[in-house]
Amino acid sequence: MALNLMQLNDRQGVNHTLEEKLMAKSAIDKLFNPKSVAVVGASRHSGKIGHAVLYNLVYGGYRGKIYPINPNANEVLGLQCYPSVLKVPEEIDLAVITVPSVLVPQVMEEIGQKNISTSIVISSGFKEVGGEGAKLEREIVEIAKKYGIRFLGPNCFGVIDTWNSLNTTFSSQSPLKGHIAFISQSGALCVAILNQGLMEKIGFSKFINLGNKADIDEIDLMEYLADDPQTKVITLYLEDIRQGRKFVRTARKVVKKKPVLVIKAGRTEEGEKAVSSHTGSLAGMDVAYETAFKQSGVIRAYRIDELFDAAEAFANQPIPKSEKVAIITNGGGVGVLLTDAASLNGLKFARFSQKTIEELHKFLPPFASFRNPLDVTGNANEEVYFNAFKTIINDPNVDGVITASLPLQIMDERKLAHLIGEVATQVKKPVIGCFMGGEEVEEVEDILRKYNIPNYTEPERAVKAYAKLVRYKKILEELNMEENVVTFDVNRKGVAEIFKKLREENRTRLTEIEAKQVLENYGIIVPKYRVVKSLEEAVEAAEDIGYPVVLKIVSPDIIHKSDIGAVKINIIDEKKLRVAYQEIIRNVKKHAPKAVVHGISVQEMVPSGIEVIIGGIKDPQFGPLVMFGLGGIYVEIFRDVAFRVTPVSEREAEKMISEIRGYNIIRGVRGRTRGDINFIKETIMRVSQLLEDFKEISELDINPLTVHEKGGFAVDARMKIKY
Ligand code: COA
Repeated sequence: MALNLMQLNDRQGVNHTLEEKLMAKSAIDKLFNPKSVAVVGASRHSGKIGHAVLYNLVYGGYRGKIYPINPNANEVLGLQCYPSVLKVPEEIDLAVITVPSVLVPQVMEEIGQKNISTSIVISSGFKEVGGEGAKLEREIVEIAKKYGIRFLGPNCFGVIDTWNSLNTTFSSQSPLKGHIAFISQSGALCVAILNQGLMEKIGFSKFINLGNKADIDEIDLMEYLADDPQTKVITLYLEDIRQGRKFVRTARKVVKKKPVLVIKAGRTEEGEKAVSSHTGSLAGMDVAYETAFKQSGVIRAYRIDELFDAAEAFANQPIPKSEKVAIITNGGGVGVLLTDAASLNGLKFARFSQKTIEELHKFLPPFASFRNPLDVTGNANEEVYFNAFKTIINDPNVDGVITASLPLQIMDERKLAHLIGEVATQVKKPVIGCFMGGEEVEEVEDILRKYNIPNYTEPERAVKAYAKLVRYKKILEELNMEENVVTFDVNRKGVAEIFKKLREENRTRLTEIEAKQVLENYGIIVPKYRVVKSLEEAVEAAEDIGYPVVLKIVSPDIIHKSDIGAVKINIIDEKKLRVAYQEIIRNVKKHAPKAVVHGISVQEMVPSGIEVIIGGIKDPQFGPLVMFGLGGIYVEIFRDVAFRVTPVSEREAEKMISEIRGYNIIRGVRGRTRGDINFIKETIMRVSQLLEDFKEISELDINPLTVHEKGGFAVDARMKIKY
């Protein structure tokens, strides 16, 4: 049975009614579009935060009603003061709280009683200080829940909406109006970005600090901003994501509407804990985040300048039709730098049409290059450069242009910027500037900005920003493809019984045989086996299974069986079997005398094939993740693996296989046997289903899964549960 991914996701998510969703949305909307704002803690003293917040509201151009709340004042900044929100005769849409933390619960109660749907808690002294602060935070969460209040913070900087001239922060400045929404988990970073943004003339639609995220989080805001007409791109600085699966689900929907760019700092605590499986050790600190971003189409940046470079491109330029770009310069060196960066960042050079080349010949000197990247040479003045620019951007093979210029004597860059701008606004192709250096660069940038052309004075930055536009184009194509999560007919009850037994025995680690039984219940083929308790039984089992066989100890206490000589392979006859059996017993007695032994397994010795690993790990934020990679030594040395958050669709399973570097080995290069890719794909999906069904599985390794031309076997398996 095939299920649509979204249907499946909705089933797993919290089931909000439509009414609840609409209400939640309007509560968030009031963070940015309140008709009236109360400042609770509106101080009379100009050095205090509550005063600064009120000041910004009063003098920042906000047009709604403002109510200062302060029991110790009659008026502040010329406005009548109220002792409590309860004393305000009219409705209040938003309450900004700037009183000391101990007073916040009482204030929150009053906000609830006054029926105010939305609040911003600027006050610090909550979870971030631990102990009493954490208790206070729980208290305000409870009060907010009781009254259905949605609140931002605590310990936050507030929000700025440039389009409504609403500034609820205590910053002395507001960012410029624009189309980038910035959500930050760090207040300090907000201040830094705000200042830098002003210096670099970056325009923002909304500026939001999440603070402690006790209620409103990045997911709520992304969802809201997806439909915000002033926001063309959503940027995030995050230190953690607490509702990982909901983040992935929401981001996938949001990214279909507009690009989401993220910087993720910090590492997960859980990830650092010791793990015993390969999958666990490969999952590392950051893999779940990296996987989740990739799967949801969120574009990750690793530096702040990279984040805003790309954001500026998204906010101002259209998305290209393809990766085919043209580069135009008036200096060879810059052309080379741009070319190198373009190749490294996955851009392709458009091939100029014959018509374009003929046209270029009309005005470029014969020593110019007539290929892409196009060097118009230092001989070109602004008219010649512009003619070339106009010619290439109108070439149907070109889907966008990076236009670079060096400040040369004969070139009037200001004039060039105007000329380029005029044409760029006429075509629906992205144009990114790389006008470098020179005294006038700021002036030139201002001109380009008028035409919505972002400029980067460093070639690599220009290319990287452009490459993200291309990346988004591909992400959209991917997200719009149908995702089928196949649900196999499996024996869930059988697995539940195995786990029940483990719980009864107070065990968390399954034996290889138990792990294989779990897999068998999910339709994953393992080599034939039988667990025996005596040598005679072993002989009988080997005859039934057929030589050659493998002998392995079955014990929950022995994880690394081979290391102590408790595995014997390629046993070709009874004589060898008898020797091997005795050896295993001797080795176990010697190296693991206290181990509980369930018996010895006699297993079919399957022919060797391509060895891959399929694993699973449960991440504290994102839930189960499936891993795929080449098995054996490859997994240890090259760490050549791909992860996905479950459930894994058919297409994603396919991508996991093809994205590892060792894909060619599976495909059978240079006369090697080709592995059964459909078999791997199906096994990944079956493991995904198992991990989805049994959230108690904390670690799982099928290593190796031998893959043959047709089918394969889960030769060894490890599994751990947590309950
Ligand atoms: N309702 C409304 N106002 C009240 C009040 C009440 N129940 N009780 C007292 N007030 C008034 C005070 O009288 C005072 O006004 P005044 O100066 O005119 O007398 C005002 O509220 C502020 O109270 P005060 O006790 O002076 O606090 P403060 O201004 O020194 O500090 C905070 C309050 C919230 C700013 C401070 O506790 C804090 O948390 N600072 C850090 C904020 C921060 O960094 N946030 C994170 C940003 S990223």
